Amino acid sequence: MYARIIGTGSYLPENVVTNADLEQKVDTSDEWIRSRTGIRERRVAAPGETTGDLAVHACRKALEAADIDPASIDMLIVGTTTPDVVFPSTACLIQQRLGLGECGAFDVNAACSGFIFALSIASQYIQTGACKRVLVVGAETLTRILDWGDRSTCVLFGDGAGAVVLQADPEPGVLSTHIHANGAHANLLHVEVGVSKGFLPEERGGMSVKMKGNEVFKVAVNTLGRIVDETLAHNKMDKHDLDWLIPHQANLRIIKATARKLDMPMDRVIVTVDKHGNTSAASVPLALDEAIRSGRIKRGDNMLLEAFGGGFTWGSALIRY
Ligand code: UT7
Repeated sequence: MYARIIGTGSYLPENVVTNADLEQKVDTSDEWIRSRTGIRERRVAAPGETTGDLAVHACRKALEAADIDPASIDMLIVGTTTPDVVFPSTACLIQQRLGLGECGAFDVNAACSGFIFALSIASQYIQTGACKRVLVVGAETLTRILDWGDRSTCVLFGDGAGAVVLQADPEPGVLSTHIHANGAHANLLHVEVGVSKGFLPEERGGMSVKMKGNEVFKVAVNTLGRIVDETLAHNKMDKHDLDWLIPHQANLRIIKATARKLDMPMDRVIVTVDKHGNTSAASVPLALDEAIRSGRIKRGDNMLLEAFGGGFTWGSALIRY
């Protein structure tokens, strides 16, 4: 039994923040941001608009596309690092709003790899026969934990949500998923405060993402190169068997490095980083939904999804659509 995608959905908050807007806030330029990252604009959630709100919109669209009764969902998994509240989980908070029954519902925190980790769990539950339908979400309001005075991070991130309905099917489906983590370099990309460690007052930095971008960049390129090799080898596939690359949208230069490794022309690579920025766990399902709805990805196509993020965490999924 395979987990097959029967519906996708996504949602972006209305407020667009352009590079020109950021030039007014910090010492940066549209030219620097575009040439170093590929980002032109990103979305920022409205005051009071939460990760759960974004997720609900994305899930409703995915459920509608799947054309199923929401009550038939057996499990809801939300990949997020920016939950609405400490608990209940964002999954629990949105379950009733979506009209799901009393299915298992929980969040997964794997930073930017959160959606891939959630997809991996969902796929295992479907393969074993424990679940028939699972709703998998990546949703974030990362702009809530940015230091808007730090030009090295505040230009990079955005808010959004993406969702996928998976259903058990004898036809593939998710062919394999691969997840990894290594906490050895946690301090290269992290939020150094929290519930148990304690928070800092605003004047001492509050709660914000800290990143040594250049070092993360090098590890990301190398690690993503390794995971695409691992994924192809596991499936006894050659890179030329792939129809699409749906990468985590952190930086166009990282995306291009992975595409080069796979010998893939950029018209087979889904790129949304220019419009979305880095939406962390939401980036892969947002890109996937956009590519499916635009008709680019067709039934039977092989697509490789990959992500890398804080932890470090990284993962991939090879999927026949
Ligand atoms: O999603 C999770 C994983 N995250 C990633 O994969 C992100 C990985 N890292 C990156 O994408 C890139 O490293 C960045 C886009 C964050 C930075 O690009 P870079 O080419 O690695 O630049 P850099 O950090 O080496 O900085 C180069 C220069 C520095 O100035 P000096 O020291 O050379 O004078 C920075 O201070 O650019 C400066 N700089 C900026 N200048 C204008 C840093 N941020 C900005 C900015 N505007 N926003």
